[in-house]
Amino acid sequence: FSERTFIAVKPDGVQRGLVAKVIARFEERGYKLVGLKAIVPSKELAEEHYGDLKSKPFFGGLVDYMTNGKAPVVAMVWEGKDVIRQGRVMIGATNPLDAAPGTIRNSYCQVIGRNIVHGSDSFESAEKEISLWFGKAGELIDWTSA
Ligand code: CMP
Repeated sequence: FSERTFIAVKPDGVQRGLVAKVIARFEERGYKLVGLKAIVPSKELAEEHYGDLKSKPFFGGLVDYMTNGKAPVVAMVWEGKDVIRQGRVMIGATNPLDAAPGTIRNSYCQVIGRNIVHGSDSFESAEKEISLWFGKAGELIDWTSA
């Protein structure tokens, strides 16, 4: 059955010109883009997005890096069969050095704190992240492909 996931190219990925490559992976796999925007998130948004990591030593740095405005986040919602799990597989392990060959992180990065892309890790986090980043009416488009 069809579902939706939240995928973001993070500021380092935008800075490095990797937005099109990330989008291409999902388009070419046959997933449907239903939401897209460039945004410099507020501190509140970033802290809520990464709420599970509040106790981690890198939390402050992570929030700063997401919000400092040196580059935006390119936030997306993708729809399709098993896209939450498949998106995680396509992105690869959080630590790029553990990411399997062919995954986005294996292809384009090396450092865990600059791993260029984020994807929801469960149905619950997809729901939470989609409403957090695309909470306003009309931000997501229902459309029929082919
Ligand atoms: P992401 O998939 O966005 O989810 C949590 C993020 O925290 C992760 O990617 C990394 O960017 C960051 N992160 C996880 N572990 C570390 C770490 N040890 N040091 C710095 N950043 C980290």
